[in-house]
Amino acid sequence: MLRLSLLAILSLLSVQILAATHTLIISGDSSGGAVSTTFNDVTHAFAITGNSFINGADWITLVGTTRAYLTFRNTSLVAAYDVSPSGGLTLAGSPVSVPVPVYVGVTHNSSFLFTASYPSGAIATVPLSPEGLPLGPAATTTFAAPDPLPSPQDQARPHSGIVDVTGQYLIYPDDGLDSLHVYKIGATSATFLYDQPSPKRPSGPRHAVLSGYPVISTWVPRLHVVNEEDNSVETWIMHYTPHNVSLVLQGSAVSTLEVPAGMNVSTAAELLISPNGKYLLASNRDAVALATGSIAVFRINPPTAKTALTRISITSSGGANPRSMSLDKTGKWLAVVNGNSNSTAMFAFDQDTGVLASEPVANLTGITVPQTVVWLEDRKTPTATEAEILGLQRGH
Ligand SMILES: *[C@@H]1O[C@H](CO)[C@@H](O)[C@H](O)[C@H]1NC(C)=O
Ligand SMILES: *[C@@H]1O[C@H](CO)[C@@H](O)[C@H](O)[C@H]1NC(C)=O
Ligand SMILES: *[C@@H]1O[C@H](CO)[C@@H](O)[C@H](O)[C@H]1NC(C)=O
Ligand SMILES: *[C@@H]1O[C@H](CO)[C@@H](O)[C@H](O)[C@H]1NC(C)=O
Ligand SMILES: *[C@@H]1O[C@H](CO)[C@@H](O)[C@H](O)[C@H]1NC(C)=O
Ligand SMILES: *[C@@H]1O[C@H](CO)[C@@H](O)[C@H](O)[C@H]1NC(C)=O
Repeated sequence: MLRLSLLAILSLLSVQILAATHTLIISGDSSGGAVSTTFNDVTHAFAITGNSFINGADWITLVGTTRAYLTFRNTSLVAAYDVSPSGGLTLAGSPVSVPVPVYVGVTHNSSFLFTASYPSGAIATVPLSPEGLPLGPAATTTFAAPDPLPSPQDQARPHSGIVDVTGQYLIYPDDGLDSLHVYKIGATSATFLYDQPSPKRPSGPRHAVLSGYPVISTWVPRLHVVNEEDNSVETWIMHYTPHNVSLVLQGSAVSTLEVPAGMNVSTAAELLISPNGKYLLASNRDAVALATGSIAVFRINPPTAKTALTRISITSSGGANPRSMSLDKTGKWLAVVNGNSNSTAMFAFDQDTGVLASEPVANLTGITVPQTVVWLEDRKTPTATEAEILGLQRGH
């Protein structure tokens, strides 16, 4: 009897020791807030713990655990925030005006931030102080060229930006011009190098992730792009030379849907890579076959394979319009904001097998039209030197 209860106490203790409480921040468009939440990975309790009451917050990018950058579409601002351990945000420094931003990122050494403006067809950079505070004004470029192809996008629509593994190049997927704008990173801003057009136009490049070295030490760096107009994921091998990088297509694009939706049904949105570099996850804001949003999982094949990606599953996202999603750094938990269901679903994911659970373990309500979800955790951006990449390329 006594032994049994001791055992019970011990097992209870070990569960408590093994349980981790994660903090996530979720921005909500019309709830006017950046909401702090916690998720317990044993009890699966997912709860709202605070609200920073920031009006109109949209995209959130975290740098370490104490600095965040947020975009404000309604007021055309980008701003830095101090982040508290519980996920509370306090404005740091002054917001800077940029063309209607839908995305903000920062360089590896936090020398400047960059924004992409889907509505106004522009990009902007803002230098940062050593403390990571924006030093306005922004340097902006508006892409004048009209979209040469008949498609739902009639002009330039840069949607996001991504820094390569060496920290030297900045690439903007532009879903209006169906092109990747490649820039060289300088001390406080970036210089245009060239445009890499999509092979199949219109396709609508929206967001991108990197794979390969150093996460997988034998694989050259690749750029995977999710296209929102033809609902596909496309893979480019990044081939480095001492003063340039070329993008070389690997195989053809792979659909994010079971049954292609057809042109002008824009559904693919977010793209993620598992922390171990083996799988990609793409969200579909409303997958035709499922009548809700969905998440497509792709296995990443080696850079030498004929096809870069193999789609292995499509799973309901647990609600409508999954525009943003985020994996925790252990690759075990996928948080998906279902904007049009006013809910955020938490799914178990196995990054060794690529299996995404078919039902969420938790479904958080109470945030109106959630926009972006991020895990408040110390996550290192994988980096490499150009010499390491050139050496790896020679070995191939
Ligand atoms: C921002 O603009 C959108 C669209 O006009 C509106 O629905 C939303 O309520 C606005 N948000 C704030 C915080 O003003
Ligand atoms: C897609 O939309 C564009 C612009 O509205 C139109 O010109 C084109 O015909 C449409 N394509 C299809 C396949 O519906
Ligand atoms: C940050 O990196 C860029 C690109 O390598 C470089 O030009 C710049 O000098 C660096 N800034 C600092 C403060 O280290
Ligand atoms: C850099 O590479 C791109 C893509 O291969 C090429 O179009 C461009 O001309 C190159 N630029 C220089 C300066 O070599
Ligand atoms: C999550 O909650 C929302 C809002 O109540 C609901 O629409 C959605 O179906 C739920 N999803 C799941 C998988 O329970
Ligand atoms: C989400 O919340 C908004 C604002 O309260 C409401 O207008 C909308 O109907 C809600 N959507 C759903 C699916 O409940």
